[in-house]
Amino acid sequence: MGRAFVYVIVGGGVAAGYAAHEFVKRGVSHGELCIISEETVISLSLSIYIYICVCVCVYICNVSVVVPVAPYERPALSKGYLLPEAPARLPSFHCCVGSNEERLAPKWYNEHGIELILGTRVKSADVRRKTLLTATGETISYKYLIVATGARALRLEEFGVNGSDAANVCYLRDLADADRLVNVMQSCSGGNAVVIGGGYIGMECAASLVINKLNVTMVFPEAHCMARLFTPKIASYYEEFYQSKGVKFTKGTVLTSFDFSPDGKVTGVNLRDGSKLPADMVIIGIGIRPNTSLFEGQLTIEKGGIKVNSKMQSSNSSVYAIGDVAAFPVKIVGETRRLEHVDSARKAARHAVAAIMEPEKTGEFDYLPFFYSRVFTLSWQFYGDNAGEVCHFGDFSGNSSFGAYWINKGHLVGSFLEGGTKEQYEAIAQATRVKPKVEDLAELERQGLEFALSV
Ligand code: FDA
Ligand code: NAD
Repeated sequence: MGRAFVYVIVGGGVAAGYAAHEFVKRGVSHGELCIISEETVISLSLSIYIYICVCVCVYICNVSVVVPVAPYERPALSKGYLLPEAPARLPSFHCCVGSNEERLAPKWYNEHGIELILGTRVKSADVRRKTLLTATGETISYKYLIVATGARALRLEEFGVNGSDAANVCYLRDLADADRLVNVMQSCSGGNAVVIGGGYIGMECAASLVINKLNVTMVFPEAHCMARLFTPKIASYYEEFYQSKGVKFTKGTVLTSFDFSPDGKVTGVNLRDGSKLPADMVIIGIGIRPNTSLFEGQLTIEKGGIKVNSKMQSSNSSVYAIGDVAAFPVKIVGETRRLEHVDSARKAARHAVAAIMEPEKTGEFDYLPFFYSRVFTLSWQFYGDNAGEVCHFGDFSGNSSFGAYWINKGHLVGSFLEGGTKEQYEAIAQATRVKPKVEDLAELERQGLEFALSV
């Protein structure tokens, strides 16, 4: 059994959705493009009744249905999806609403002649033969393949700790995880939640747990939260803000084991420093691993991802890679990097499709790294690279915006701003892109945002 397409995208997340949108904008023909994605969610919405006679109907049970999921804006899962009131639910956040463009509900793919093979895992790939084998036994062949398989959440077991499968231990990578997290959170209202990890998932989930009225303790090994990006001074602002909302921090230590109730639920979290935290639920956010396994031994791997050139083309000229799984040349920092953020997934997707469909007209992908987060009433943006010396500016007392510049080899290479306006964020992005020379750090600190606004 087999089908052939000109273009196949394996993976159906953010990058796949934006790639499909770009294919349609550039005039893909009906039947040429196919997306294969394994992501599903369990819906409990179907109730079974039987009719005893014409007017007597008896409830039998609720049936859970596995529903396949078309590409959606994954960032919603740690924000609007977890709200106790008016939470975001599909179809409202299908791609490409995250960049204020049209919303691609499953019907859109159908109308544009795009084959969606959903709820289906690709279990092997043969890049020499240009074929994929799905878990249903179908062989799909392609002329061009775009790999958009994203990443998976790292599991505790990979750090030697057991307990990931307990009913009240949650991860957050996909919609099924988010549904599970919502159910566990609702069943623990007023109780104790322990968040393991002080990165993006940890920070965003901790805020959501507080909003859902849980008592939250965050545990992470570093000296401060968001250690991959924040300076100690920036981190202390967010930690104090979180503390003002009731969040407790246990820093510089890691989880070593759980205590369990007789029914297998986690009741306590044991830490390496000898302390123990009571827990009604646990959220784990300890990083990710890109889903490269289909292509290992077939494509060049670098920085844990599929290495691509500035056209997002891998070491096999028919195979492109985009999103979390791709390691691409980030020209502005002069290095190949793998970025785990939605803006790069969206833009790399558009670039790869342009490079495939109009190779002569498509130049190098010249991307300015952009990360952001929104928690409670806070909102920050970061552009560029957090390398070199740091210069903080603005008002860290919480009354106004503040930020930081990173200066490397005498040039501005990175900018961070909390609480900025649209114009101010655009200004720091533009200034970072230009990489102006900076000679006097004290003067830069004095000018603060004015520096970016004047570039
Ligand atoms: P993505 O993970 O979106 O999609 C991969 C898809 O491939 C999945 O649907 C998966 O099921 C499928 N797949 C994998 N292997 C397969 C196989 N063998 N066969 C078939 N299908 C397969 N970033 C940011 O900049 N700002 C933010 O606020 C957030 N917030 C955020 C919240 C949460 C909860 C998460 C988990 C992540 C974020 N991110 C983020 C990160 C951002 O969402 C991420 O960078 C993008 O989703 C990456 O898009 P991809 O398409 O590469 O992977
Ligand atoms: P992360 O890399 O941001 O943070 C991982 C954290 O895990 C580290 O900060 C560290 O504190 C902790 N850690 C590592 N090993 C540990 C251990 N043994 N015990 C305890 N803690 C440990 O990863 P994440 O927070 O899991 O996020 C997953 C992915 O989702 C990332 O790719 C991230 O970019 C993405 N994401 C992004 C956003 C955003 O951009 N706003 C929001 C949510 C998720």
